Amino acid sequence: MKPVCVLGNGQLGRMLRQAGEPLGITVYPVGLDAEPEAVPYQNSVITAEIERWPETALTQELAHHKAFANRDIFPRLADRLPQKQLMDSLGLATAPWQLLSDTNQWPQLFSELGNFVIVKRRIGGYDGRGQWRIRPGDETELPADIYGECIAEQAIPFSGEVSLIGARNKNGDCVFYPLAHNLHQDGILRASVVFPLENYPLRLQHYHLQQQAENMLSAIMHELKYVGVMAMECFIVDDNLLINELAPRVHNSGHWTQNGASISQFELHLRAILDLPMPRPEVTKPSVMINLIGTDINTQWLSLPLVHLHWYEKEVRPARKVGHLNLSHFDKNELKNTLQKLIPMLPSEYQSGLEWAQEKLI
Ligand SMILES: Nc1ncnc2c1ncn2[C@@H]1O[C@H](COP(=O)(O)OP(=O)(O)OP(=O)(O)O)[C@@H](O)[C@H]1O
Ligand SMILES: [Mg+2]
Repeated sequence: MKPVCVLGNGQLGRMLRQAGEPLGITVYPVGLDAEPEAVPYQNSVITAEIERWPETALTQELAHHKAFANRDIFPRLADRLPQKQLMDSLGLATAPWQLLSDTNQWPQLFSELGNFVIVKRRIGGYDGRGQWRIRPGDETELPADIYGECIAEQAIPFSGEVSLIGARNKNGDCVFYPLAHNLHQDGILRASVVFPLENYPLRLQHYHLQQQAENMLSAIMHELKYVGVMAMECFIVDDNLLINELAPRVHNSGHWTQNGASISQFELHLRAILDLPMPRPEVTKPSVMINLIGTDINTQWLSLPLVHLHWYEKEVRPARKVGHLNLSHFDKNELKNTLQKLIPMLPSEYQSGLEWAQEKLI
């Protein structure tokens, strides 16, 4: 098995490394400032856990590496402008948007997009950072240097958010997980809930959304000749999906697959980029993922038999993702009971997310 080098050494690289281990795939997550000589990249397949990177000695070396999976796709998706253009060119529904290039645009923007607009940095935003929610009058408070660097998007009154994680191999075969239902607060993912397709409570509606999402993400991955795992975040409006954004990598809303699917998203990505067999992962139980954000580790969580703790060993800082809890069980009441027991074991700001997940487990 070829080794894999991952550009970036955060939690996604760490979890790719963990997924490779049982298969005998050595995965090297590497920091951007690593000395190229110290990284065995020559004979490796290269992937990334981040979407863009500054020029460093290492990234300059890798920029020409022929085994860098999706190398030329990253710049197209890391910038919201070409990403939105891609969706438009494929005729895929997305939140209506415009490039924000001049302060004089505002009257026309409000008339075309409506009186609630979200301004997003084209490059570099994450976890809701680099975004402004703007109603008429608020635009004067925007910093002057964002013009040309942002898009303006219609604020969508969605009934829910879902994401689809899928993978494509060199052959063009695609596989997908069931949709994850996601709760975001202040732009940051707090929790995901997933049902196997077969026993989703609102089966028909769900099949319809799943099919729509798979068609959309297939079209995108085929157009890009993408190889590996890609995530697509969507808003649900009535019975339809609008694409929010794409991520050319393993994704936080797919972390549940570590304990809730026969093949995790991390293993699936390795299989795709190494051109190994890639069957559709089996999902037979409902799953819940709770993100740990700026919260110290609490060994009490481990007293609950259904809890799988994934701790990233990062310094705990406010609003920083430092770990997650995965729960998976055939009986959704068991999941609900565990979520109830977690409430007193987590800071109070988790309560609404835990309750949301319980409600999703109807
Ligand atoms: N057009 C919109 N209408 C309504 N809500 C939105 C819109 N765009 C973003 N949001 C809300 O903000 C959240 C974060 O937005 P988005 O996914 O664009 O940002 P991000 O910072 O890149 O997030 P991520 O960490 O997922 O990369 C969304 O999940 C959604 O809850
Ligand atoms: Mg997002």
